[in-house]
Amino acid sequence: MWELARGAVDENSPYAYLMMCEYFADACVVAEDEGRLVGFVTGFRPPADPDTHFVWQIVVDPATRGTGLGGQLLDACAASGPRPVRWLEATVTADNEASSALFRAFARRHDAPCAEETAFPRELFPPAAGAHESEIRFRIGPLGTR
Ligand SMILES: CC(C)(COP(=O)(O)OP(=O)(O)OC[C@H]1O[C@@H](n2cnc3c(N)ncnc32)[C@H](O)[C@@H]1OP(=O)(O)O)[C@@H](O)C(=O)NCCC(=O)NCCS
Repeated sequence: MWELARGAVDENSPYAYLMMCEYFADACVVAEDEGRLVGFVTGFRPPADPDTHFVWQIVVDPATRGTGLGGQLLDACAASGPRPVRWLEATVTADNEASSALFRAFARRHDAPCAEETAFPRELFPPAAGAHESEIRFRIGPLGTR
């Protein structure tokens, strides 16, 4: 996961991925092609809001992008765990068109409203860590109403 994530999303330590797989396995999904990892989505259901599935990172292998795998991963994580969720939430950097399109497509496919608002403005990110665009929160739902 760490290797697929490198260069595609904010870099985190290998430990961060091990932690997600160990403690949030119910809410994370991987896609393999003949034993090779070609995509993953990590996330969790906030204890204070268990009807919401928060997507932390989703990455698809560059050679597989645009084939619908990202959408399949989102569908699978929303349906994972003891019961399907009512809301799917994620933050996306303002300049990430592919990711924004992915979440809007998920909302359309599930016939659910998609609210978008600034969650973390760029000023919150320390300059020492490098420039970071504002993070836009996508909150999609309610799901499962049709
Ligand atoms: C974002 C990402 C996971 C999308 O995965 P994917 O498998 O390519 O997405 P899908 O093929 O399921 O496409 C989903 C929708 O997004 C649209 N889309 C995909 N890539 C796009 C792009 N580069 N520009 C515009 N729209 C795009 C598709 O057309 C589709 O919409 P539609 O159903 O209306 O046709 C993939 O581009 C990726 O790994 N990006 C790098 C990592 C990243 O930025 N992750 C998100 C932040 S954590």
